Amino acid sequence: MTTTSEPVSPSIYPRLKSPRFWQKLSYVLSPAQYLETLAQVAPDIAYAPVIGTAPTVLLVSHPDGLKQLFNNDAKQFAAPLNRLLQPVVGDRSIFSLEGDRHRRERKLLMPPLHGDRMRAYGDTICQLTRQQLAQQPIGQVFVMREIAQAIALDVILQTVFGLDDSDRSRQIAATIVELTASFQSKFFLAALFLPALQRDFGLIRPWTRFNQTRDRLKTLLLDEIRARRADPDPDRTDILNLMLAARDEDGNAMEEDELHDELITLLIAGHETTANSVAWAMYWISQNADVRDRLVAELRDTDAQTDPAELARLPYLTAVCNEALRLYPSAMMSVPRRTTEATEILGYPVPANANVYACIYIAHRNPDVYPEPLRFNPDRFLDRQYSPYEFIPFGGGVRRCLGEALAVFELRLVIATILREFSVEYADAQPERPVRRGVNLTPERGVQLKRVA
Ligand code: HEM
Repeated sequence: MTTTSEPVSPSIYPRLKSPRFWQKLSYVLSPAQYLETLAQVAPDIAYAPVIGTAPTVLLVSHPDGLKQLFNNDAKQFAAPLNRLLQPVVGDRSIFSLEGDRHRRERKLLMPPLHGDRMRAYGDTICQLTRQQLAQQPIGQVFVMREIAQAIALDVILQTVFGLDDSDRSRQIAATIVELTASFQSKFFLAALFLPALQRDFGLIRPWTRFNQTRDRLKTLLLDEIRARRADPDPDRTDILNLMLAARDEDGNAMEEDELHDELITLLIAGHETTANSVAWAMYWISQNADVRDRLVAELRDTDAQTDPAELARLPYLTAVCNEALRLYPSAMMSVPRRTTEATEILGYPVPANANVYACIYIAHRNPDVYPEPLRFNPDRFLDRQYSPYEFIPFGGGVRRCLGEALAVFELRLVIATILREFSVEYADAQPERPVRRGVNLTPERGVQLKRVA
């Protein structure tokens, strides 16, 4: 097939043929099931109009297509305005930036999320985990996702604002928890995907409630920005300080709205996903006694004094965390790329202005890459090295997740601390299943555990 600038008929692509309304409903309410059904007819590339708003929406899952999308050597892909995330993160977030502006923003945000600056959070992560677990009475059921969220929120608040125990910091944390709790409401989810529902229905006002919480958070963040501008401290190394000091090529500082959208992007992207991944990892460990025993054995030679960076490099711990990120990736797909010109992907013509997503969920269940894809088998990560087009929990290319290093570090340290210092068991009569929480995949019941020692 050749590249064409003519409109392309959807019928040429592998796709589901059920009514679009049902597909949308299924994608919004049971996304994992929707993607599994789609993978049966379209494992490599799929036409999936229910996922985005562009006239042509494609999901790419085959490693060759992902290589083209992530490498983008011919500069065929740019970022469309992210309409799905826009009500939450605004339209000046890094998710919507392109070209030089996007590159500069990444360069600015990268250092505090990597290397020594990131590793400095290691002891804090272990300490927060220890405190959270120690607070759970023996024998009493707790929800792992909630604990992981509290840890992840604390870590991201420190990264973004620096060490801070002020009232405002506590209010910001509480308001973020309130805001992200709406991601669980079925009505809110439907409204996120169907903008016509972004209004009130008599006494039912979830969208208004969401907006009110978001406005409260905005006021708190703007207060923090103004306070820090009024009293700058050049010695602070947190992300907000870097953004306040940044100047564009004309010497202009970032505007308040820009700063706000970036802060909220980092705060939300930086803790929901990590909390889900920790919960999933603990779920799989609690379901597989042999995995738990091997992990405990690997951790036996370490203690609270072990350098967190060394802990995070342990091979079996790494394999277990990777396998958890593979099987239920918190982000089911990448952010969209917009085709700037007509092109071809995996032999299919793709018109200009199509939205193309990397489908992480389907790519991670490709039986040619991952034999017995539904089995939780960390050994596959010890036996084989996967390419950046096969194992893609953090997307890839110029838009690859900025927080990957921090997220992976945190995931491994939380799991290591729990397994080494506590004994926990699964405490739910039912197995978990994946459900949507905003744009993420989360365990429906949050993974209920209890301490036995
Ligand atoms: C397990 C945890 C996480 C997962 C699974 C995850 C996943 C992702 C994915 C799939 C993308 C889109 C990449 C693409 O389109 O190619 C992304 C982007 C992004 N993530 Fe994460 N993320 C996680 C944690 C974090 C953390 C901790 C932070 C912040 C500290 C963060 C900040 C971001 C940002 C800023 C972007 C946008 C990058 C850009 O557009 O250039 N993420 N993440």
